[in-house]
Amino acid sequence: MTNNNIPKLLFMLILSLPSFFALPDLPSLPHFFPNISSIPHSNITAAWDSFQKLAGCHSGDKKPGLAKLKQYFQNFGYLNKSDITDDFDNALESALKTYQLNFNLNSTGELDDFTLKQILQPRCGVADIVNGTTTMNSGKPQANSPAPSPGKSHVTTKIHLGVVAHYSFFPGSPRWASKNNELTYAFLPQNQLDNSVKAVFATAFDRWSEVTPLTFIETPSFNKADIKIGFFSRDHGDGEPFDGILGTLGHAFSPPSGHLHLDGDENWVINGEILRSAAEDAVDLESVVVHEIGHLLGLGHSSVENAIMFPSISSGIRRVELAGDDIEGIQALYGSGPDYNGSPNPTLQERDTNKGMVDRPFLMRWLGLGFAVVLFVL
Ligand SMILES: *[C@@H]1O[C@H](CO)[C@@H](O)[C@H](O)[C@H]1NC(C)=O
Ligand SMILES: *[C@@H]1O[C@H](CO)[C@@H](O)[C@H](O)[C@H]1NC(C)=O
Ligand SMILES: *[C@@H]1O[C@H](CO)[C@@H](O)[C@H](O)[C@H]1NC(C)=O
Ligand SMILES: *[C@@H]1O[C@H](CO)[C@@H](O)[C@H](O)[C@H]1NC(C)=O
Ligand SMILES: *[C@@H]1O[C@H](CO)[C@@H](O)[C@H](O)[C@H]1NC(C)=O
Ligand SMILES: [Zn+2]
Ligand SMILES: [Zn+2]
Repeated sequence: MTNNNIPKLLFMLILSLPSFFALPDLPSLPHFFPNISSIPHSNITAAWDSFQKLAGCHSGDKKPGLAKLKQYFQNFGYLNKSDITDDFDNALESALKTYQLNFNLNSTGELDDFTLKQILQPRCGVADIVNGTTTMNSGKPQANSPAPSPGKSHVTTKIHLGVVAHYSFFPGSPRWASKNNELTYAFLPQNQLDNSVKAVFATAFDRWSEVTPLTFIETPSFNKADIKIGFFSRDHGDGEPFDGILGTLGHAFSPPSGHLHLDGDENWVINGEILRSAAEDAVDLESVVVHEIGHLLGLGHSSVENAIMFPSISSGIRRVELAGDDIEGIQALYGSGPDYNGSPNPTLQERDTNKGMVDRPFLMRWLGLGFAVVLFVL
């Protein structure tokens, strides 16, 4: 680079600084489709497709790609931070067994077809386990046995489904304080969502209102709203980057944070009639939103497969009805609403807690920004 270019570069840097620092977030312009037939055909490279070549791997193997799988298990709380290598070591085997238990699979510690299929499914970005605490099967006492024996595989897990509650809360069971049980929500203005998209959120909030005393009201003021909804792509400043098509679809923080983030790179379908066969990368917006609202209100993940709070959802699948497990969980936190006439019968004996996500957007954002500025100057 010649010296002549330096003033020009500096000028550009100065020009770009105000917008750089004014940028509160890195929002995306998400794309929505009225139905699956309107999604253009493309070669999908979904976030976790590369795991397919790991089929059949087991303890002792060394295979390129295992490091990425370890990263996956680390992200969702199954592996502690350590050197990530391509070795199928004991730690990975143990992580896999716990994962299998949580997802109602045979706890073999091997990457069998059922397990791989489950791992490849798009899912919520909130971790299943934090600091060794899990809200799912592996954190529950086993049926007919007083205490779980660590390290032993629990192939009997299905037996106690339905016997105990599977819903869970965040540590300390945080919930929204009852100011008239009314919560406001707002959409990140930069996302420029139209009314058909906003209507999907209203319907999703209604599903939780119906079984609790809570009401949700849209407000135009993003900064003042209790619940702040935004679509973002990739790294967006909270240390939990999204990953393009499929992979993680969204995440939300426990009360009273109110942040609900969705992956702006997904092909979101809004009309609610979705067919599995037609589009492999279509994601039903309402299904994901109903799940993330559960986190916003204080629920963690559940091992019950038809529950809204189950961590994963197949692409092309719609799952929007609260299951008994979800209703029991939310009513244990907030009670039932005046309109609710079901029979909740909440089972409170098992109130596991889990630290799903810690709200740490600001530190990460400013650290990241500072780093970017330094890079640019260099
Ligand atoms: C899907 O949406 C497109 C675009 O709005 C529309 O032209 C088409 O008729 C719709 N197809 C079905 C099956 O609803
Ligand atoms: C789609 O995949 C096919 C076969 O893998 C390849 O030949 C083609 O170039 C790809 N098209 C695009 C747009 O990536
Ligand atoms: C679990 O193991 C049993 C017995 O080997 C087998 O029949 C069943 O298909 C397996 N299920 C899964 C989900 O792997
Ligand atoms: C995890 O445990 C460590 C040590 O007990 C504690 O300092 C830390 O705050 C915990 N982290 C979370 C996210 O709960
Ligand atoms: C991770 O480390 C914590 C604290 O040292 C421990 O309690 C937990 O069991 C470990 N988790 C795994 C999956 O090894
Ligand atoms: Zn979740
Ligand atoms: Zn986020």
